[in-house]
Amino acid sequence: MQKKLLITGGAGFIGSHVVRLFVQKYPDYQVYNLDALTYAGNLENLKDIEEYPNYTFIKADITDAEAINNLFVQHQFDGVIHLAAESHVDRSITNPNAFIQTNVMGTANLLNAARETWKGNYDGKRFYHVSTDEVYGSLGAEGFFLETTPYDPQSPYSASKASSDHLVRAYGNTYGLPFVITNCSNNYGPNQFPEKLIPLFINNICTNKPLPVYGDGKYTRDWLFVVDHAAAIDLVYHKGKNAETYNIGGFNEWQNIELVKLLCTKMDEKLGREPGTSAQLITYIKDRPGHDRRYAIDASKINKELGWYPSVTFEEGLSKTIDWYLENQEWLNDITSGAYQNYYETQYSTQS
Ligand code: NAD
Ligand code: DAU
Repeated sequence: MQKKLLITGGAGFIGSHVVRLFVQKYPDYQVYNLDALTYAGNLENLKDIEEYPNYTFIKADITDAEAINNLFVQHQFDGVIHLAAESHVDRSITNPNAFIQTNVMGTANLLNAARETWKGNYDGKRFYHVSTDEVYGSLGAEGFFLETTPYDPQSPYSASKASSDHLVRAYGNTYGLPFVITNCSNNYGPNQFPEKLIPLFINNICTNKPLPVYGDGKYTRDWLFVVDHAAAIDLVYHKGKNAETYNIGGFNEWQNIELVKLLCTKMDEKLGREPGTSAQLITYIKDRPGHDRRYAIDASKINKELGWYPSVTFEEGLSKTIDWYLENQEWLNDITSGAYQNYYETQYSTQS
């Protein structure tokens, strides 16, 4: 029997890389990509695989419980990899309810549908919930997030993700639903929506707009190339132990301002500009409310137990990412016209 795998949020940034990997690597799986196509979802991300016979796109909203139940009854999915979410911290500060609806209620709807459809017959079934390191809160100058670090979410986004993680574990504990959770650090790479730091700044450098650095710029993140995250998800989906959590990270911490300076240097090289040109665009602006100071992942569990390690260095990943954006100006132009302008105005015009 062909395995039926539901991937939610597959038209988004990370989801599109996960869908591509599974469709190409597992021709014996039927891969269903369920996505509501919000502002962040874009089927252009999957143009190269949309004709594959083992790929099906379903436009649906995970907050619509009835639609989700019907889809589970109709397709009898064997596995779920759940990525659909509202994912941008700044948007969660201006509109938390959308995050509570999609990230909490949407996850509950998927859990209920899986439970109803699988009816306690869990052989070969798995619910894989893709989460974030932000659930652990903020670190000081020292230390790392472990799988055992207590949850301490600080933004509406991270609180909604923490809530969804708790629900997944509760369904495992209460109903025996087979699950696995991963908590990953900051991703970067092709197809990321230009509201997140790296693609936003690449776009602004290309168009000679200010580079809005929040606060003192000394906030620290751990960066992972998206293709390596997709590879980790493949590994955990197939080899991860039931009811376990795995942290995923890039072993690659950067202070924002140092990362931005590196990006400026690389962009000057790629665009053939005088060294120092892009850095002149750096502009310090008002801080993000409740801004987490430092995230750092200890990814030794997935490394030791499953043998995963990032394959791409930050230099290579950043270079590939910049090249992709420079070669895909149309993708960027399509996204940054229309509603994006309103978002940009609201987010940045009052912040300087
Ligand atoms: P994204 O915003 O690029 O994509 C989210 C996708 O979900 C979009 O295609 C969107 O259309 C879809 N979606 C949103 N609401 C939906 C709904 N109600 N019903 C159906 N589909 C809906 O996000 P991303 O950065 O690719 O993140 C994917 C997942 O990975 C999220 O769960 C996020 O929390 C998690 N994550 C992201 C990062 C990161 O650095 N981007 C790191 C760790 C974990
Ligand atoms: O850690 C994983 C998380 O990483 C994911 O769960 C989230 O979905 C993802 O959006 C990301 O969250 P961050 O808030 O860390 O990412 P963002 O790209 O928004 O910001 C990265 C850092 O850069 C953060 O310290 C804020 C800062 N920043 C961001 C923007 C958009 C700026 O200084 N200026 C900006 O304009």
